[in-house]
Amino acid sequence: MAESLAFSKTTDRAQLYDEVVPQIEALVAGESYIIANLANIAAVLKQVFGFFWVGFYFVKDGQLVLGPFQGPLACTRIKFDEGVCGHAATICETVIVPNVDEFPGHIACASESKSEIVVPIFDAEKNIFGVLDVDSDKLNDFSQVDADGLGKIVNIIERII
Ligand code: SME
Repeated sequence: MAESLAFSKTTDRAQLYDEVVPQIEALVAGESYIIANLANIAAVLKQVFGFFWVGFYFVKDGQLVLGPFQGPLACTRIKFDEGVCGHAATICETVIVPNVDEFPGHIACASESKSEIVVPIFDAEKNIFGVLDVDSDKLNDFSQVDADGLGKIVNIIERII
């Protein structure tokens, strides 16, 4: 298992995703327990990109329930009609919010969070399994580069759930 992480000192996120995706592939190839893998993926994203908050919510009991994450304390349960996470899980599409204060129903777990991207995760039957939620303390911090890069990471996750 790859227990060390190598990545360039660059702010070019496309390059960083290209470097990190194969390392995440290697990381999860050596471990079958999904929680361990998601915990390490959250750690990798936090370490490489310095995001404010990175984590997973799982669909459970008709809600989204907090899973492995890196960052400050977070709300444990989100309803499908609440927040960016609930919205992404409902429409089953990646959602980028450049300014969370302008998103109706945004859940302010931390006032430092300014922009966010949420990528839905599907199980083998194409049912919604959960979401990958990434928050930034900078406005307008996410673009299609992140949607593509995080989408590749979610594709890896979808192959192991
Ligand atoms: N911002 C999210 C809530 C979860 S946290 O920020 C960790 C949302 O509105 O869905």
